[in-house]
Amino acid sequence: DSNNPSLLGNKRQQSASSSFSSNNVDLNGDTLATATLISPQQLGFVPPCDIISKDAISALQRAKTKDCRQHIAGIACAIQSRKFYPKTLPSYCPSNHTANNLLGCFRDEKKFRLLSGYFVNFKTSNTVEKCIQLCLQSGYPYAGVQYSTECFCGYDAPPEASKLPDSTCNMKCSGDQQAICGGYFAMNIYETGIAKFTAQIAESGVKRNATDEDNIRIAFLLTLNGRALRQVHRLLKSLYHTRHVYYIHIDERQDYLYRNLLELEKKFTNIRLARKRFSTIWGGASLLTMLMQCMHDLLNSSYQWDFVINLSESDFPVKKLEKLEEFLWANRNRNFVKGHGRETQRFIQKQGLDKTFVECDTHMWRIGDRKLPTGIQIDGGSDWIGLSRPFVEYVIQNKDSDELLKGLMIIFRHTLLPAESFFHTVLRNSKFCGTYVDNNLHVTNWKRKLGCKCQYKHVVDWCGCSPNDFKPEDWTRLQNTESKMLFFARKFEPIINQAIILKLEEWLYGPYPTDALNLHSYWQSFYNIEDKPTKQDDLTLTIAESLVRRLSRQWNTKQGVILELNHYMHSDQYKGYLLRFKTTDAVKNKTYELESRIRPVQYAKFAKNSKFAKRLKNFEISSDYDQKEQVSRNYHKFLGPYTDLVLTFTFVGSASHSPKDTSHSYNLTLLWIDPMGRLQDFNELHIEDSQTDNINYSKAILKQPLCPGIWTVKLIGRSAIYAQTKFLVTPLAFYNHQPIQTERARLINAGDGLTLSEDFSLPEEWIQYLPGHEESLQLKNLALRNALRTGEQLNEWVDDLTGKFHHFRETCAVNEDATKLSTASLEMLPLCRDTSWSTLAPDPKSDVYKLANIKR
Ligand code: UDX
Repeated sequence: DSNNPSLLGNKRQQSASSSFSSNNVDLNGDTLATATLISPQQLGFVPPCDIISKDAISALQRAKTKDCRQHIAGIACAIQSRKFYPKTLPSYCPSNHTANNLLGCFRDEKKFRLLSGYFVNFKTSNTVEKCIQLCLQSGYPYAGVQYSTECFCGYDAPPEASKLPDSTCNMKCSGDQQAICGGYFAMNIYETGIAKFTAQIAESGVKRNATDEDNIRIAFLLTLNGRALRQVHRLLKSLYHTRHVYYIHIDERQDYLYRNLLELEKKFTNIRLARKRFSTIWGGASLLTMLMQCMHDLLNSSYQWDFVINLSESDFPVKKLEKLEEFLWANRNRNFVKGHGRETQRFIQKQGLDKTFVECDTHMWRIGDRKLPTGIQIDGGSDWIGLSRPFVEYVIQNKDSDELLKGLMIIFRHTLLPAESFFHTVLRNSKFCGTYVDNNLHVTNWKRKLGCKCQYKHVVDWCGCSPNDFKPEDWTRLQNTESKMLFFARKFEPIINQAIILKLEEWLYGPYPTDALNLHSYWQSFYNIEDKPTKQDDLTLTIAESLVRRLSRQWNTKQGVILELNHYMHSDQYKGYLLRFKTTDAVKNKTYELESRIRPVQYAKFAKNSKFAKRLKNFEISSDYDQKEQVSRNYHKFLGPYTDLVLTFTFVGSASHSPKDTSHSYNLTLLWIDPMGRLQDFNELHIEDSQTDNINYSKAILKQPLCPGIWTVKLIGRSAIYAQTKFLVTPLAFYNHQPIQTERARLINAGDGLTLSEDFSLPEEWIQYLPGHEESLQLKNLALRNALRTGEQLNEWVDDLTGKFHHFRETCAVNEDATKLSTASLEMLPLCRDTSWSTLAPDPKSDVYKLANIKR
């Protein structure tokens, strides 16, 4: 089911989503409302009715703002009074038009010139299966694609058809139909039992005459999120042609990406950014609103286009653009969507289509059950689509007037993952029903065991799944798309793995020139001075300011200004982060721009004589653990008083065990010891011995603010310590982007809260792992004194700590001037653009601007 949509399909999901409704426990761990009423006092307003839906009450209790609660209450009441949803909707799909659903039968529908051949959907008898088998056997290659001859019953065999070998075609046709043998390649799937012949392209030996007017024009609708700017450039580079248009929507909250991509507009007349932006949360109704708005913009633009294809930052082509153009050219006016491939009722339930969701406060609130209208066929699957202009025109121009569209808009404005069903359902029930092709043009890297962990529960009241990033071990999955009508794959994230992207590109376009620089490097910004302020900035500023202070001391310059922070990976290994900053020469009073590479460090130790400890690797504390990709995304290890800490480590497979020998298991305890020497939390770990390398993680549930300073985590077995690591929780020197004041510092940087309750009695055997009474007292006094620090004194403390945990590696100068800083340092700084690790080093693989001067 490699292409299936994000259904809630595995066992874990099933139990998770059923517990959502049956146990009265929602996904956020809150108990659902047991009361059937919610008071106006709680709400902050008088609701228009007595709300009875338990889901709605739960949502109202959890929603943060009054606006959002009012919105939820309004909809809940409208639904309760049965005035909200349409009960029935019309279907405009001609009743005799069953081409989409026919089992083993095809209708003669349309015939038009293409590839100087013809295109046909045809009616047939039960002999079709046999016929297809016969015809496929006599396939012959054409232009690198496997074409096959095929026979069918139809009308008006085009003259080209008679040129093809007809020995395999002696069908008996009814009425005035003729047996026709044509050269075809089947772009669609033929599944036993369910014939899904939706489009076939005839070929009669004459190639498409690709004049420009005749060519297909595509509107690539890029819906983007995150900060993977260079990957977006790389994607655009591989999709770019002057003929097409690239319309980019960037999540309203992603200022960095927006600012940087805006630059493209200056150089490319066919790359445009949507100005009306939405906070397109995962699975949110806003995703459909955004798609509709973008399609509206595209229709009203002066750009010519025949198809719109949506893609995200994590998509990448698996075929050359010409192949996609050729394919769409041959399938003009068809619409490409992927169906769920299962029983519809089951799909509806798993997808939550029978529930109302309301989006506000950047959350999708589930507010109750609903009945879908009668009279139409509900369909859905993947939200990656390829739609023809006539269909988009129909949807956008009639959404407020056409009864079917109006009704569906109401439903899908309150639907989870709406783009996974809206267009499918419109297609099925409109006059466009015959243009439905069950193919989303994508191969998707589903690994449900990893990707279905209810990871979006903070955003949606439902368990959702996400596909995994491609890695080199998934290569065959990509390679297998060659013979299929699949043009894109998802997902790719260079910060997780970039080698696979290079491999894919070289497979498609041939190897890069041998002198191409930095092909294995990747840079991704995680802070920029121009970004809109966020809560995390106080920690980032504290650490980065400290680094700039330390560097300024080193270069004998005045304290500088932080400009940007980037992650730097080489060959998919984290090589540290890069700090770009400005600093002023104390003597000449001249400002220079520099970039430094910094490695975060932790101090892990493993027991020497333990076989078990020898198998432990990457014993680290971090945060932002991604269960799907099994990695902590806080690569730079900026941990502060408000960070949710997580321990990760790899347990390397033992060579001495046979695959059957899985009997070994280890019961371990993890002790979290704060800078005052107090045990703050402990976790029981159970590790199964297994052949494969296992990534383990364990979250600490600690009272925040955490005590700043040096923490220790110890992994202990029955009677010995196996591993320990020391890590830094940085005190905050900033609060709300301003230097922290004494009162606030005392609150945050004391971190004197205790997670374990006062009466927790420490097991005897753990005492040996904690500092003694005397030492604890000293540590405590020190910590309390530290908490009183502000200004210079606080900076000194922070600098001392970052000095231990954030190590400088090297520095380069952004402009020639700065290399003269040597007077201060007595050594020459290299220029950043000549420095392979610098963000200014050449990056040809992402150099989309190079195309600005190339007319293809
Ligand atoms: C999967 C499926 O591929 C998709 O069909 C389904 O809708 C959700 O699950 P997933 O990998 O989970 O996709 O989502 P992701 O690609 O991260 O996001 C989907 C789209 O929403 C992207 O275009 C992304 O840029 C956008 N998005 C996501 C935002 O704009 N903001 C967000 O906060 C999250």
